[in-house]
Amino acid sequence: MGHNRCVSVGLVGLGRLGRQHADNLAFRIPNCRLAAVCSINPEEVEEAQAQLGVPYGYTDYEEMLRNKELDAIFIASPSSYHCDQIEKALAAGFHVFSEKPLGLYMEEALRVQEAVRRHPDQVFMLGFMRRYDRSYVYAKRKIEAGAIGEPVLIRCYGIDPAQAMPGFLQFAKSNYSGGLFLDMAIHDLDLARWYLGAEAERVWAIGGSHRYTELAQLQDAETGAALVQFAGNKMGMFVAGRNCAHGYHIETEIIGTLGTLRIGTVPEKNQVAIMDDRGVVRECANGFLERFEQAYLDEAIDFVRAILDGRQPEVKVEDGVLSTALGYACKESFETGQLVEVST
Ligand code: NAI
Repeated sequence: MGHNRCVSVGLVGLGRLGRQHADNLAFRIPNCRLAAVCSINPEEVEEAQAQLGVPYGYTDYEEMLRNKELDAIFIASPSSYHCDQIEKALAAGFHVFSEKPLGLYMEEALRVQEAVRRHPDQVFMLGFMRRYDRSYVYAKRKIEAGAIGEPVLIRCYGIDPAQAMPGFLQFAKSNYSGGLFLDMAIHDLDLARWYLGAEAERVWAIGGSHRYTELAQLQDAETGAALVQFAGNKMGMFVAGRNCAHGYHIETEIIGTLGTLRIGTVPEKNQVAIMDDRGVVRECANGFLERFEQAYLDEAIDFVRAILDGRQPEVKVEDGVLSTALGYACKESFETGQLVEVST
């Protein structure tokens, strides 16, 4: 495909994140055209079409796949639909971007891996956008340059704002998110594999619901922790949660043989310090859209670029399978109270 070509994208899912992807695909990505949008909610489709000037709108995903003007499908529907929608889009000949997680069960994740491998000429990418965040990329380059020696331990916090809890509880009534570890910790599990350069071997995970006890009825936890042993005796400590009083707390520490890197130790909104009758206040990022705005844009730019260049992006289907295997092992350990061996 020549560089003068424009990639026509059809997007499915126009919710919290899908709508952000829609804005990016419509206005902010070179050589890209948002040609179609799809959601089961017709009002969202009409609104996106009107506001973003999108020619085609669908409430039926399979109908969108019959649109021969499209080159690529961008999936931002709820997690339980990802695998099925990826397989159908690949079978119909499209390049595919899918939001995380790849799947909620190992069986479907492995099925998608086979489907991706059957279509090597179609680009497939998974939305692990933290790998595109400037600070995380900078840390990776530092590690590659030997700045902290051999990375041996990673400590991650991924906690959603308590403010988002009512919305989550509403969502969780009709949708299965996969639970705290597959839904929230999955980004950290992927980052651990990326930074440590090792795969997980065994995990012990615990969790509890102390403020929003209704989460326990959903077999989920409000706050959870996992201790993971990686190959080569490398280590991971993960805290995941949905009840962060001060905002969206995403923090990562990588301890190496010669030094340590920390990203987002204080998850500040920006560089402003407010000094008033409360003391010195650094406000916190209020959610994923604010914290990872740049990363959502840059991952989509890379997806479109990869299609034009005829190459596969860095975040591959295998990353989805291996992180799902680890997330699933965390979930199993949390549910059974046992130490769980990670297997694919
Ligand atoms: P949401 O519930 O706000 O939006 C879901 C959208 O999909 C809605 O427009 C809904 O009408 C539509 N939809 C539902 N079922 C559908 C179907 N069968 N066919 C077509 N459309 C359908 O969900 P949200 O928060 O936007 O999450 C979407 C996905 O993005 C999830 O898989 C989630 O894990 C992922 N996500 C990733 C984040 C990241 O940091 N990379 C952050 C937030 C979400």
